[in-house]
Amino acid sequence: MQLPSSATVAAVVLSVVLFICATEAHNITHILADHKQFSTFNHYLTTTHLAAEINRRQTITVCAVDNAGMSDLLSKQLSIYTIKNVLSFHVLLDYFDAKKLHQITNGTALAATMFQATGSATGSSGFVNITDLRGGKVGLSPADYNGPPPAKFVKSIAEIPYNISVIQISTILPSDEAEAPTPGPSQMNLTSLMSAKGCKVFAETLLASPAEKTFEDNVDGGVTIFCPRDDAMKKFLPKFKNLTAEGKQSLLEYHGIPIYQSISNLKSNNGDMNTLATDGAKKYAVVIQNDGEDVTIKTKIVTAKITATVVDKLPLAIYSLDKVLLPEELFKASPTPAPAPAPEARAESPKHSKSPPAPASPAESPADSPADGPNGDADDLTDSGAVKYNAGASLAAVFSLWFAFNVLMEV
Ligand SMILES: *[C@@H]1O[C@H](CO)[C@@H](O)[C@H](O)[C@H]1NC(C)=O
Ligand SMILES: *[C@@H]1O[C@H](CO)[C@@H](O)[C@H](O)[C@H]1NC(C)=O
Ligand SMILES: *[C@@H]1O[C@H](CO)[C@@H](O)[C@H](O)[C@H]1NC(C)=O
Ligand SMILES: *[C@@H]1O[C@H](CO)[C@@H](O)[C@H](O)[C@H]1NC(C)=O
Ligand SMILES: *[C@@H]1O[C@H](CO)[C@@H](O)[C@H](O)[C@H]1NC(C)=O
Ligand SMILES: *[C@@H]1O[C@H](CO)[C@@H](O)[C@H](O)[C@H]1NC(C)=O
Repeated sequence: MQLPSSATVAAVVLSVVLFICATEAHNITHILADHKQFSTFNHYLTTTHLAAEINRRQTITVCAVDNAGMSDLLSKQLSIYTIKNVLSFHVLLDYFDAKKLHQITNGTALAATMFQATGSATGSSGFVNITDLRGGKVGLSPADYNGPPPAKFVKSIAEIPYNISVIQISTILPSDEAEAPTPGPSQMNLTSLMSAKGCKVFAETLLASPAEKTFEDNVDGGVTIFCPRDDAMKKFLPKFKNLTAEGKQSLLEYHGIPIYQSISNLKSNNGDMNTLATDGAKKYAVVIQNDGEDVTIKTKIVTAKITATVVDKLPLAIYSLDKVLLPEELFKASPTPAPAPAPEARAESPKHSKSPPAPASPAESPADSPADGPNGDADDLTDSGAVKYNAGASLAAVFSLWFAFNVLMEV
């Protein structure tokens, strides 16, 4: 066995440095870890996944309450999804350290919160009013609150200008909206969510099939669903009706992936993906591929584009598609009334054990080409943009870990 060369050592050091740089600039869990009186608050930041969202953001203020304050909140027996809303109301999307809190222009300011950013808050209910009070005190109250501020600034816990400030406040900010019951993903009605966002025909088809239960059963463990928009699904219905009962179920289950994938996950995880219809190696798989700013889902017969985000709420994601995904397992041998390219494609691939199709396959879209065109829903994807940076960072982190691991194994 050799000693590691200096180049190897340098590579390991480099990848460790890369790893550190690739992780977030701050770590709220770590910041609060030294303060035992905030252990409950810290614990719930982790279990609600808010910690990761806080680490991803910059120029924010976390208003922490001590364990006694958290007991008051927990005694209300709220679901974890509601606790998440309440705690996200305690993350201000601006940097307020002790100095800035005591020197607010005109003595009062409204700060948007992470709860506001979720889109669940109506009117001004997602804002916190900060007011400089007599005797050097700073009051905090929900913007729509009547009466003297219910919470006061107690002390600064950590200040990393201007990335993150962590302060203690005297009590949880009361908010009826944040404390309102929130359905967890497994309580959400998948088909009504789809119906509300342009996939009514697919939702109705799903409701009449055992595939609906397959989707429901996968929500808790994480699932990504692609629902074809009504225009695409309507055109496809005659073909769908021709399928056997088993074929119908497989076709519908083919539109689900058994893991949660945000848009940025999809953008960074190009390649083969099993679907809920997959039974054995390489059957009923789809290929995810970037196409500029778009994400495409490819089968050997059709290339569909994601047109909008219907839901993105870990562990459930639903996206709408401009085309129905046609698995070769069901459609390669069946005669279709489609234009010429389809039969050629079938002749080319008598077996389905080949590698993913080339980007510009002539077999694309035999039936649905008129559905192509500008779509006004593309903006819906932008709310996932915040995750982008983090996915890149994670990728770099994974890569450097992998690199370090390989280097060590060689030694
Ligand atoms: C603030 O965040 C930026 C971007 O992540 C980082 O480069 C910088 O080092 C951070 N500042 C401090 C003091 O941690
Ligand atoms: C943040 O800090 C905690 C506690 O120190 C640690 O367990 C966790 O892995 C860190 N998270 C990241 C993303 O570095
Ligand atoms: C402070 O008050 C003055 C006069 O009422 C107003 O013009 C100004 O816009 C205020 N500044 C802020 C930051 O609200
Ligand atoms: C904040 O609340 C105080 C009363 O506590 C009120 O006087 C002030 O106008 C409010 N500030 C804003 C920006 O709404
Ligand atoms: C979802 O809503 C539809 C009608 O809106 C209903 O038929 C279906 O049973 C609901 N699904 C669940 C799981 O509650
Ligand atoms: C349905 O199947 C029949 C018999 O196989 C065929 O003639 C017909 O063209 C098919 N219809 C569609 C829309 O695929």
